[in-house]
Amino acid sequence: MTDTVAATPLRNDAAAKMTAREVSVFYGAKKAVDSVSIDISQDNVTAFIGPSGCGKSTFLRTLNRMNDTIANARVEGQIVLDGEDIYAPAMDVVQLRARVGMVFQKPNPFPKSIYENVAYGPRIHGLADGRAQMDEIVERSLKRAGLWEEVKDRLQDSGTALSGGQQQRLCIARAIAVDPEVILMDEPCSALDPIATARIEELIHELRGRYAIVIVTHNMQQAARVSQRTAFFHLGSLVEYGETSEIFTNPRVERTKDYITGRYG
Ligand SMILES: Nc1ncnc2c1ncn2[C@@H]1O[C@H](COP(=O)(O)OP(=O)(O)OP(=O)(O)O)[C@@H](O)[C@H]1O
Ligand SMILES: [Mg+2]
Repeated sequence: MTDTVAATPLRNDAAAKMTAREVSVFYGAKKAVDSVSIDISQDNVTAFIGPSGCGKSTFLRTLNRMNDTIANARVEGQIVLDGEDIYAPAMDVVQLRARVGMVFQKPNPFPKSIYENVAYGPRIHGLADGRAQMDEIVERSLKRAGLWEEVKDRLQDSGTALSGGQQQRLCIARAIAVDPEVILMDEPCSALDPIATARIEELIHELRGRYAIVIVTHNMQQAARVSQRTAFFHLGSLVEYGETSEIFTNPRVERTKDYITGRYG
């Protein structure tokens, strides 16, 4: 077994939705992500794992330019979405974040009604032509997020009055409502109980194929359950990337093995 970085992380994946090449991220002078190259599959769920502080969230945020909002963050390298360089000057970042949606660790519904939480994005992006069409988008998004049955009779209640698990599904419905192509999830279950967590995992299964999905998780069992591809990060580098079943049963790199067997992290 080697302790060196696996150099060819599933490159030229025929069904890649996004590709990152030699992406580094700096906070001031500090390098938090070091020359990461990876292909993000269209059809598979990709899990990012690794010890706290290894750069998972920082790298995830490069995929929809959320790091732009952090004053001292600087991104180097190239990220392409369907052939388009997302850091090109002509890229419309608001549009990009609709195409590449994000769900955060802590559910963060707007302090508005359930209906308005979902309708907000489509309204901003002009996706609905009138009330009836907006109603349809809201219903479809809530159905896809597995929340419709629980909220259909109280769409005017506040989104913040829902349970944590329901709030997280509302945030997923909000991301889905603008018809994204990619959904990024940064530890979406870490604030949820086991039942709410199972519901989100089920949902990820249902959404797979329709959207390219990337999930950051500290939970090895979760990574094994929901993903088909796993990327192991350590100290800012992508150490190993491959089929989830391979990474968990037959890692090629010593550091990956140490992490998944719980020797550190
Ligand atoms: N806004 C910021 N300003 C300065 N440094 C930051 C900022 N955000 C993250 N960092 C640093 O970048 C490194 C990577 O952080 P990041 O949050 O990406 O790690 P992570 O793998 O997501 O960790 P965790 O599993 O704890 O969420 C860490 O050293 C962290 O302290
Ligand atoms: Mg993080």
